[in-house]
Amino acid sequence: MKQMPLKLVVLISGSGSNLQSIINAIESNQIDATIEAVISNVPDVKGLERAKNHNLPAVCLNHKDFECRDDFDMSLKQLIDSYNPDLVILAGFMRILGKDISRHYRGKMLNIHPSLLPKYPGLHTHQRALDAGDKEHGTTIHFVTEELDGGPMVYQRSFPIEANDSPDSLFQKVQALEHQMYPEVIQWIADGRLVFTSSGPEFDGSPLTERGID
Ligand code: GAR
Repeated sequence: MKQMPLKLVVLISGSGSNLQSIINAIESNQIDATIEAVISNVPDVKGLERAKNHNLPAVCLNHKDFECRDDFDMSLKQLIDSYNPDLVILAGFMRILGKDISRHYRGKMLNIHPSLLPKYPGLHTHQRALDAGDKEHGTTIHFVTEELDGGPMVYQRSFPIEANDSPDSLFQKVQALEHQMYPEVIQWIADGRLVFTSSGPEFDGSPLTERGID
């Protein structure tokens, strides 16, 4: 029996190029999913425009309208749940989520972070990789837990850092990888190959290694 498409809610804060890669993958039948809503915590960003261009519900929940982090998280949770998603995708969502909401979506929320985690959680990852004289850089998709950029890794890809690389060139290289990676991971979940069990993520029936899928 054919499975229902995976229902996604995508959270963004800015440009939404990862969102665009997911939209393109859905529209070209590369992945079996639907985007139920795109939610931004920042008004008037390009990502919301991208969603509207594809007739997707595009909602802004501005964190500045809330007195505290917990209130924002609670409204965000209610908003996300109103779309009843199978999976919540953080795609350049630059707001730290609290423990309650992270727990609520345990195993159902993915984040993409532009570094070879566990290196460089937080901001300015490209500059930090250059400053450290790293030989390689990359990006990581992981399940969201209460620890910032710290949940179980699902998929990590890397490339060598060249002598003439700058933060901007690393950003471009990272984004090119990311635009392939998110659609791939979403399809693994849609196919039931990647699942989150009580003992952690498994791929094709085997527990993932610390670095995720090889
Ligand atoms: C992406 O490169 C993503 O890895 C990063 O923001 C960018 C968003 O780009 N996310 C983080 O830094 C989260 N800690 P996009 O808006 O064009 O998809």
